[in-house]
Amino acid sequence: MNAFASIMEQNIREEKVPGKEIKMAKGKISTVFYCQNCGHESSKWMGQCPGCREWNSFVEETVSKTAGRGASGGASMRRDRAVPTALPEVEAGEEDRISTGIGELDRVLGGGIVQGSLTLVGGDPGIGKSTLLLQVCRNLSEEGHEVLYISGEESLAQIKMRADRIGEFTSRMLLLCETNLDGISEIIRSRKPETVVIDSIQTMYSESVAAAPGSVSQVRESTAVLLQLAKGLGVSVFIVGHVTKEGTVAGPRVLEHMVDTVLYFEGDRHASYRILRGVKNRFGSTNEIGVFEMREQGLAEVENASEYMLSGRPENASGSVAVCTMEGTRPLLVEIQALVCHSNFGIPRRQTTGTDINRVNLLMAVLEKRSGIQLASCDAYVNITGGLKIQEPAVDLGVVIAVLSSFRNAVLSPKLIAFGEVGLSGEVRAVSMAKQRVAEAQRLGFDTCILPYVCAQECRKGSGMKIVGVKTVQDVIEEIFP
Ligand code: TYD
Ligand code: MG
Repeated sequence: MNAFASIMEQNIREEKVPGKEIKMAKGKISTVFYCQNCGHESSKWMGQCPGCREWNSFVEETVSKTAGRGASGGASMRRDRAVPTALPEVEAGEEDRISTGIGELDRVLGGGIVQGSLTLVGGDPGIGKSTLLLQVCRNLSEEGHEVLYISGEESLAQIKMRADRIGEFTSRMLLLCETNLDGISEIIRSRKPETVVIDSIQTMYSESVAAAPGSVSQVRESTAVLLQLAKGLGVSVFIVGHVTKEGTVAGPRVLEHMVDTVLYFEGDRHASYRILRGVKNRFGSTNEIGVFEMREQGLAEVENASEYMLSGRPENASGSVAVCTMEGTRPLLVEIQALVCHSNFGIPRRQTTGTDINRVNLLMAVLEKRSGIQLASCDAYVNITGGLKIQEPAVDLGVVIAVLSSFRNAVLSPKLIAFGEVGLSGEVRAVSMAKQRVAEAQRLGFDTCILPYVCAQECRKGSGMKIVGVKTVQDVIEEIFP
């Protein structure tokens, strides 16, 4: 790969960089290469982005270098000179938060919309970003706030059709189909709505930048304009950003550092559940999730997420166990399924959905070494149901138990739950917030919990469940298959 990259660089060096030519000819206009994935800037084309390691993501864009142009260039010039202030003298003041009327979204936002904040909602096309924001607009306008929904993707009639599925709207909900940001800022300045939705940032363009809509410089400039509007007028702005695999338009990652809050909408487009994840939040904690279900009438909140994730669990099937993972401050129960069968090939197949394949390989190696179970000649498939992607090591014990259960073809009690991190020596290590996890399991009717020995003591207090503390994977085997 490196050899390839250096050959490409060589070629570019020898060929004359187009950027330089234009610069010489016109004096002011030059071209720059941007990574469409992360916004990395380079004077020449590169095969792989040094910023985000994405291949083939560089695109050439024209930038006009007029001093003080646009929102991003001239910000510092307009302001008076700032003077340092002693920290204790700064008045903080509680932020005013407005509820979106959607509890799951409020939680991810950290309690509601902060006035003058800029929120980016990213996600694959068709996942439900426009639907969610339209529902937010509806709730806000019903509460008496003036809301302006600006769409660059759909016509008024298309939005109306979607809105009809969601419900009735009041006349405080304003629609605008426009892509020219200069016009948009004029309207926002004159009407001063409380909340503005921009759907999507990749369709917007500002006349002060010569590049096409959707390009990195255009998307950045548009966001800078919106940032000034939000902070200057105290308007809360939601920006929709599509995640695109092909890299034809700049992705939302380009903007992550400019906005206050970044939310990503995840989930399988063909399944009905959706997970809204906070990735960055200047006004609250990150890693909170909101769970939604796409229905006929738009997105519905799923308040009892654990129950939802466990629904449809198979009965009397081996290789299935429930685990408790933490999503932010919220315990969430999910099912781990494993299928272990004899391999017909020299190299066994290992496949995972929702969890890291390397971690599963490691855990199987630990099992093999520490408890003498012959897994080297077995194919293994591990699946976390419900479409969640879990990175937390607390699910290790669940993976180990599911693999063991499938390997021995032994059905586990459906009321059994497990969590704990497994180390390379086969030791079961402590995890955080054990008590909350146990409480959530108890709430959903589980009666036995296998967890790290060090966490067992604190969890036993006041719990009606059978708490089994284990020190090693060997203990786990003895406990489940006595
Ligand atoms: P949309 O919000 O347009 O996605 P995005 O803005 O992220 O591209 O959602 C589109 C999908 O949602 C579409 O496939 C249809 C589905 N949908 C429903 O199932 N029910 C509904 O009430 C609505 C409005 C959309
Ligand atoms: Mg949309």
